[in-house]
Amino acid sequence: MSVTARAAPNIALIKYWGNRNNDWRLPMADSLSVTLDRPTVEITIDHAKAMTLQSFDATGKEKMLKPKDIQRFATHLALTKEYLAKLGIAEALPDAASIIIHSAIPSSIGLASSAAVFGCIAKAYAGLISGARMLTDKEISVIARLGSGSAARSIFGGFVALREGENDAIDASFAEQIAPASHWNLHDIVIVPSHDEKKVGSTEGHAGAHTSPMYAARIHDIRSRREQACIDAVLAKDFKKLMEVSEEDCWDMHEVIGTQKPPIEYVNNETHRIVQGVIDMREADGTEALYTMDAGPTVHVLCTDNAHDKILAYAKEQEKKGCTVYETKIGGPAVLL
Ligand code: DP6
Repeated sequence: MSVTARAAPNIALIKYWGNRNNDWRLPMADSLSVTLDRPTVEITIDHAKAMTLQSFDATGKEKMLKPKDIQRFATHLALTKEYLAKLGIAEALPDAASIIIHSAIPSSIGLASSAAVFGCIAKAYAGLISGARMLTDKEISVIARLGSGSAARSIFGGFVALREGENDAIDASFAEQIAPASHWNLHDIVIVPSHDEKKVGSTEGHAGAHTSPMYAARIHDIRSRREQACIDAVLAKDFKKLMEVSEEDCWDMHEVIGTQKPPIEYVNNETHRIVQGVIDMREADGTEALYTMDAGPTVHVLCTDNAHDKILAYAKEQEKKGCTVYETKIGGPAVLL
């Protein structure tokens, strides 16, 4: 019988960048994100004799998939079986599956479509094998991580940490919830400067992280203080602290990315212009808004209820300049439908 799951992207405030094991996506350091409420991905999976993969966009149009996309899902299924073998239930999952993706997320624009997709498929695999064993969310986050590191965080709603973990086992690193969505009603107004496909995907980018002369200091800072400072700011609902620590981490990651070999430039002039507008509003009247960018030029503006209308009006102005705007807020966990 087929199983369908739904999941959403997340936006990182402490960024995951670089692995200690690229095949298993064991991250070098912890990260922290908020799960968004939209746009979502729905995936239906079923047992199949051979792997089949179909993907449809928000309008129902089928997307052309590249062989390397299909390979990524096949690899993920094999890794998932490797992990399930450790739990003693490898046979519960078939060797091949039919996977049908309905995604409302435009790919490669910095809206973390891989996080939602692999979070969703992990939840669906868990549903498919629930007769053999009910997996915990922590275990499902491991399966998600094997497909995309940041996807581990989309298993949970609200504020979520991805823990680097303590050894080099396949399940060493996992996600856990810091606080539910109801803890703090923040909004993420997403401003997308351009729909150009980003040239270097994050998987490739992660592999080069260690070549940056700034990388060791980045990992040290996250481990020694930044992750915890971010968690403390979330728990205390201290927006100013959250802003300081997350913007520091965002620029730190982009400096690592810009100094690794070969260097990558994800942010562009439009990103800087949009960010400056946020800084100007903040300096003028203390608007509670912070900005952050993942592996692309898209600016996520996180703000409180008080700042929401003002930030949305600012985003609408950007729309007139050719940007695309998505209005999101903090959302719940991945679910089975
Ligand atoms: C910059 O999870 O997309 O968005 O594991 O190769 O799929 P893969 O990488 P991915 O990396 C995310 C990088 C980031 C920061 C973050 O989301 O933490």
